[in-house]
Amino acid sequence: MPDKNSFRRSHTCGELRSSDVGREVTLVGWVRRRRDHGGLVFVDLWDRYGITQVVLNPEIDASAHDLAHSLRSEFVIMAKGKVSARPKGTVNKNLATGAIEVYTDETTILNTSKTPPFVIDENETPGEAMRLKNRYLEIRRGPLMNNLVLRHKVTMSARNYLDSQRFLDVETPILTRSTPEGARDYLVPSRLNAGNFYALPQSPQLFKQMLMVAGMDRYYQIARCFRDEDLRADRQPEFTQIDMEMSFIDEEMVREISEGMIANIFKDSAGIEVKTPFPTITYSDAMNRFGVDKPDMRYGMELADVSETAVSSSFKVFVDAVKKGGTVRVMTAPGCAEFSRKNLDDLTEEAKIYGAKGLAWIKITSEGFVSPITKFFTPEALNTFKETSGANEGDLMLFVADKAEVAFATLGNLRVNLAKKLNLIDESIYSFVWVTDFPLVEYDDEAKRYVALHHPFTSPVEEDIPLFDTDPLKMRARAYDLALNGVEIGGGSIRIHKQEIQSKMFKALAIDEEEARQKFGFLLDALEFGAPPHGGIAFGLDRLVAILSKTDSIRDVIAFPKTQKGQCMLTEAPAGVDKKQLRDLSLKIDRS
Ligand code: AMO
Ligand code: AMP
Repeated sequence: MPDKNSFRRSHTCGELRSSDVGREVTLVGWVRRRRDHGGLVFVDLWDRYGITQVVLNPEIDASAHDLAHSLRSEFVIMAKGKVSARPKGTVNKNLATGAIEVYTDETTILNTSKTPPFVIDENETPGEAMRLKNRYLEIRRGPLMNNLVLRHKVTMSARNYLDSQRFLDVETPILTRSTPEGARDYLVPSRLNAGNFYALPQSPQLFKQMLMVAGMDRYYQIARCFRDEDLRADRQPEFTQIDMEMSFIDEEMVREISEGMIANIFKDSAGIEVKTPFPTITYSDAMNRFGVDKPDMRYGMELADVSETAVSSSFKVFVDAVKKGGTVRVMTAPGCAEFSRKNLDDLTEEAKIYGAKGLAWIKITSEGFVSPITKFFTPEALNTFKETSGANEGDLMLFVADKAEVAFATLGNLRVNLAKKLNLIDESIYSFVWVTDFPLVEYDDEAKRYVALHHPFTSPVEEDIPLFDTDPLKMRARAYDLALNGVEIGGGSIRIHKQEIQSKMFKALAIDEEEARQKFGFLLDALEFGAPPHGGIAFGLDRLVAILSKTDSIRDVIAFPKTQKGQCMLTEAPAGVDKKQLRDLSLKIDRS
């Protein structure tokens, strides 16, 4: 009898090679596939390291006699036996262990398994709801596990790199006060302080700044952040940042250290060499050329400004837009002169999603310019459109006339969607770009006040400080984002380290002294005790790993993610609580 308490293996299921032939081994794992061949039963034994073919021969393995036929998929077994070379013609070149098989002389079922709700096979992808509900089986299926292994390599690489650069890993609180990163807070009621709430951190922003005041010099954390915002493929309510902060640095040093870390991560986790330094683009160039502040530069289709030509035409839509202070922007869809009426109508509907009132188009065919609106333009104007947008025969020009932000949002998004549809993207490229010179503030029409574009602790460019009193919209922030293939993978800034500038910033944001004291008094105080010049950045770990895993959704790189409605299908969180818990917290539910 085997020692029932010992489940030790001699090797993993991914380890044995031809050089092991003749060895006595003990393997443990899950039954992935089972094939009956007359007297012999072949089992693909799986663990996270690989698959080994195990052969149960009742003639040499007495225990196999009864077992062989009761083995089912995903049973957990222990197999002891001898490594043999596979007979010629049965070697499996696709399997690392494909040259050998293990003939058992003792097999034990360690646990049975119900029939899984879907086939555990990496090549068969069940629906997402099924995969979220049975997450442990989904991980066991393979592809998600590979992503989690990659994620582990990414964080290890980041840690190693940052350690080599003298960064210290410091944990900051999860039960804390609200941090203004622009989303809603998740609140946690306090039992001991009835009626009061902790907020889960939207980022460790304020703590990392105080660590700089503390003299920690260089801080990092693989930090969980919580934001109650509308969810999308690249947004989860809880997500992870590689968060860092440094003292006595400038933008260039932050960029250098970040590039070093990213290059290390790509090399260690995926064997990819990335070229540094990364190019930079100003925020306004990014908007003008690509319509977004996280440009995907793997393909062209750049936007162009044709307001001047448009305003002197007789097309009322264009003229009115420019006269109202708006703009007319054009983008070329290469090779799309053959688009049908239906294609164009669909595109117009898509444009409306992003706020445009319509989408004007002109085809360039061998017969010349084709569109219901050509009659409103002189031949010179049409040629100017063509030249400014870089269009050629066979192309389609798309125009949006509106406020600049609407024209950018519409064409910026159409550009990305069309490039995907037209297969213009070279998926083997990793295109990094730093976006710099962000405005410090923008005007929030709804709140009727300025709001910080990054966050209120971001330093303005020194020479712009006088504009606090005259024209805050013209102020530039010492902020930077890193975009990779059109995804914002990181963002940060040089911070305000002087209390009087921080107060000016709050004032510009219409946060009065009392509110500032109440919300961030602790930071304002800290800034008065020798705060060093400092700055930092945070990278979205989930987004970075998603790109490296070549998946569109960050759910595919998170072990236990949430759905679009912020629910966990596995645990069914969020869930109700009993009356006593509510009473302890002095809470009442009001469903009115
Ligand atoms: P920011 O808000 O730009 O900056 O966040 C940094 C990076 O975190 C990622 N990210 C997200 N990933 C998944 N789901 C989300 N809901 C989500 N929100 C953000 C993005 C983003 O670039 N405290 C500052 C950093 C600093 O100034 O140092 C901050 O949090 O990749
Ligand atoms: P209309 O004169 O409204 O029928 O519009 C004529 C064409 O211009 C249609 O193809 C509309 O989709 C397009 N259009 C309408 N508004 C705009 C706009 N703001 N920008 C670009 N094209 C527009």
